[in-house]
Amino acid sequence: MLTVWMARAVVILNLAHMRENMLRGRNVMDITGRTALVTGANRGLGRHLAQQLRDRGAKVYAGARNPQSVDLEGVTPIALDITDPTSVATAADAAGDVSILINNAGISTGTSLLTGDLANIRREFDTGFFGTLSVIRAFAPQLGAHEGSAVLNILSGLSWISFPQAGAYCAAKSAEWSLTNALRLELAPQGTRVSALHVGYMDTDLVRRIEAPKADPADIARIALDGIEADSYEIIADEPARAVLARLSGGVAALYPQLRALPGFLPGQGASKPESGSGLVSGLLVAEDSFDDFGVLG
Ligand SMILES: NC(=O)c1ccc[n+]([C@@H]2O[C@H](COP(=O)([O-])OP(=O)(O)OC[C@H]3O[C@@H](n4cnc5c(N)ncnc54)[C@H](OP(=O)(O)O)[C@@H]3O)[C@@H](O)[C@H]2O)c1
Repeated sequence: MLTVWMARAVVILNLAHMRENMLRGRNVMDITGRTALVTGANRGLGRHLAQQLRDRGAKVYAGARNPQSVDLEGVTPIALDITDPTSVATAADAAGDVSILINNAGISTGTSLLTGDLANIRREFDTGFFGTLSVIRAFAPQLGAHEGSAVLNILSGLSWISFPQAGAYCAAKSAEWSLTNALRLELAPQGTRVSALHVGYMDTDLVRRIEAPKADPADIARIALDGIEADSYEIIADEPARAVLARLSGGVAALYPQLRALPGFLPGQGASKPESGSGLVSGLLVAEDSFDDFGVLG
């Protein structure tokens, strides 16, 4: 009987705390004092995320395939290959008290779905889709043990639009977006908020061969963490991602204007010359006039 009353008292106190936060306009998800885990934290965006989480007062597990490659002070390196179920389970056991999980690890093989190596296409899905999924499944119980918790999946503008030369990457990011939506609904009842960050190009190894305007990953990391603290479900980090999102409701004609060049491929339109800016840019077919801000995505 005493236990029931104690449980009720905890629920009432929690509700009062949440209401007070809302009334005062305070963030419900305060990073300070939380335990966070970032996958792929040894370089690129993941390193910035781990560094800034630490600077905001979180205890940080920096997940890396090779934990010795983590060069940040004040974080705890942890071995984590997201495509290896044993590695994922071991990391989940070792970490234990995570309430912020950032699924950042990713690869880009530049593979066409039509003509590319199937093994590369599988690698993209094993990493972006199945890897992210297995990490979330492994950490879900400990996320749920906290009063409020957060999962952030690092997606891309390419979750919403596809380019042939990066078809495998786009498909895997799109699947990861769908995964994000499904798990958001499944994890909400346990108090875990699942969100996604969409971004265009960032200046990291992933797209080092592509010449295009690139965001500073430090800025994107700051936007990501602000988004977590603001309880955002969808964090649109830059103009290129915003430009694609704006075109989603316009359907194929808005997203793929290069089809205008092909007779009968867009309703009511015959053949016309390709858009002036269309062409192969850094290996990706884009209609530049439609995506001035977007450029080409990584
Ligand atoms: N850069 C862009 O323009 C861009 C744009 C949109 C979205 N993104 C997304 O942003 C995220 C971070 O990418 P980035 O730009 O920072 O790339 P990056 O510099 O190439 O870093 C990728 C990170 O992921 C790790 N990783 C890859 N496979 C892994 C696995 N199986 N298990 C654990 N870690 C693994 C890498 O570890 P190793 O050092 O062991 O290889 C590395 O730490 C990715 O999800 C990417 O798709 C990037």
